[in-house]
Amino acid sequence: MNPRHFISLFDLSSAEFRALLQRAITLKQQKGLYEPLKNKTLGMIFEKSSTRTRISFEVAMVQFGGSAIFLSPRDTQLGRGEPIEDSARVMSRMVDCIMLRTFSHETVQTFARYSRVPVINGLTDLMHPCQVLADMQTYFEHRGDIQGKTVAWIGDGNNMCNSYIEAAVLLDFKLHIACPAGYKPDAAITAQAGERVSMLRDPKAAAAGADLIVTDVWASMGQEEEQEKRRQAFADYQVDAALMALAAPDAIFMHCLPAHRGEEVSAAVIDGPQSVVWDEAENRLHAQKALLELLLAASPS
Ligand code: CP
Ligand code: NVA
Repeated sequence: MNPRHFISLFDLSSAEFRALLQRAITLKQQKGLYEPLKNKTLGMIFEKSSTRTRISFEVAMVQFGGSAIFLSPRDTQLGRGEPIEDSARVMSRMVDCIMLRTFSHETVQTFARYSRVPVINGLTDLMHPCQVLADMQTYFEHRGDIQGKTVAWIGDGNNMCNSYIEAAVLLDFKLHIACPAGYKPDAAITAQAGERVSMLRDPKAAAAGADLIVTDVWASMGQEEEQEKRRQAFADYQVDAALMALAAPDAIFMHCLPAHRGEEVSAAVIDGPQSVVWDEAENRLHAQKALLELLLAASPS
């Protein structure tokens, strides 16, 4: 039987996405021992840096009675050119699940094709679905169902933005995307979203009346040499108090972190009363526990 992977949010149905969010909220409140993944092991391959993704997956496995192995290309044969296909075949004969953070989305897709166990996308240049699980959990906790609400994405049409487009389709919210010319999200992903997504140039137009304002760094991992060019291109795209003032009065602010105060977001906004970024970061743990349970555990109790 083919294992169930989580490469993109579209690997979940709308109903599964909603159920997963409710499960994450329940798991967050649950006290006492619950070890559905006893003796199970998660292999975690990181070809890029991470704080939240690594810690949340590792803690999730420990709390679920299992364990996690951190694998960096520097210390494994992957970094010396062992083919992805061979690495996937070998690793998946020993561990129960594999989380992979890498550059090319095709790498995760190839890895999954050759893996005997579920593969989780821990971020690629194209998508960051685990983060958007946590973001949606955070919205539901603070404001209830996101269906019919308006989300404004301000800044780079990057991996996070692409996963937000998929979330808009699955959870049925409106997504206003404001990005400079040349920094739009993936065309194929956008094309699937239809009228739910509006592409705008002006951040003010995107923020107007929004229930949730989201942004991310202007230069993602792997784009370090473009930093200066991007700083100029995105100069008018900072989420500051003036932009937040255009949103709905009870709007909240999210950022997947790490953040650069004074660039994509002002300190007053990220450290202000509308910001829910610390809950959002914590929810990586709970949302991923719900995900691991869905992919690996026999039946949640
Ligand atoms: N938001 C996020 O994925 O953080 P890390 O890069 O620290 O894992
Ligand atoms: N867009 C960012 C997200 C970091 C969690 C990046 O890819 O670096």
